[in-house]
Amino acid sequence: MKKISEILKISLQEVDKAPDLNSLDAVRVRYVGKKGKFTTSLKLLGDLPVEKRPVVGEEINKAKSVFMKTVSLRKTELEANALEENLKKNSIDVTLDGYASSRGGRHPISLTRLRIEEIFQNAGFEVKSGPEIEDDYHNFSALNIPDNHPARAMHDTFYLDNGKLLRTHTSPVQIRSLLAQGAPIRIIAPGRVYRCDSDQTHTPMFHQVEGLVIDKNVSFANLKAVLHEFVACFFNKDVELRFRPSYFPFTEPSAEVDIHWGEGKWLEILGCGMVHPNVLINAGVDPELYSGYAFGMGIERLAMLRYQVDDLRVFFENDLSFLRQFN
Ligand code: DAH
Repeated sequence: MKKISEILKISLQEVDKAPDLNSLDAVRVRYVGKKGKFTTSLKLLGDLPVEKRPVVGEEINKAKSVFMKTVSLRKTELEANALEENLKKNSIDVTLDGYASSRGGRHPISLTRLRIEEIFQNAGFEVKSGPEIEDDYHNFSALNIPDNHPARAMHDTFYLDNGKLLRTHTSPVQIRSLLAQGAPIRIIAPGRVYRCDSDQTHTPMFHQVEGLVIDKNVSFANLKAVLHEFVACFFNKDVELRFRPSYFPFTEPSAEVDIHWGEGKWLEILGCGMVHPNVLINAGVDPELYSGYAFGMGIERLAMLRYQVDDLRVFFENDLSFLRQFN
């Protein structure tokens, strides 16, 4: 019995002195492992007289459990120390500045398109779109621009190898929408268009908004009223419009519209007219029952006026110091 308490005392001292988890485990093995001191003492019980075995056995087991409890306490302590140490070594300064990610903003052309859409949606127009890769029929023929018509040359078309082309205007959406949903119809169709042309006032890709209204008893006066209203909403002020007689194959009569922009200064902003009966027929609409108007305008032109930008090309250079002004 004396020896047991002796062993326990020394074992507990060793546990307390164990400097880290590995040495603690070595101490554990030395006492309660297969050949550990407590283990072997239990094996020696057989050498004792029978009546002494239970008392001594109980004593060994008690000592063993005190030892194990102490090991486990020391283990928790050493683990906490190790964690503390680790945190000190790999500390993160949460007060340091982070890397700020800057927020993007909408492109001025997109802002202008959205503003145009909103104005027309408030007036009961639906927003439609069509493919940018078009065929000759929808881009030209159906719009009353026959083969060899000089208007085709005016468009500087990009032709693709497969016989298709990049649409030169948004007008083909008139045909597609009418064929898809018939009359009556009241739509605008904003989107990209392409022409083989590049200088200070032309880029090979630019944006248009097409407008189309077909119904019973639609007049040129309706067209004028809608455009007046649109321009006033867009510029947030009353702007004088001038309708100049013009020619487009898909409208008859046709006009170009200028806005009064400063002393004696008129700027063209769109083309328009009453939809030509041939166009209605091509789109499956009976011109005896229905009539309507159409218009097409350049989004860049409106954006330039709205934001006082005087070179069209800045819209496509992706210069962040320019674009950030619209954030
Ligand atoms: N498609 C014409 C162009 O790109 C613009 C246009 C003029 C559209 C008159 C129309 C219109 O719908 O009626 O030059």
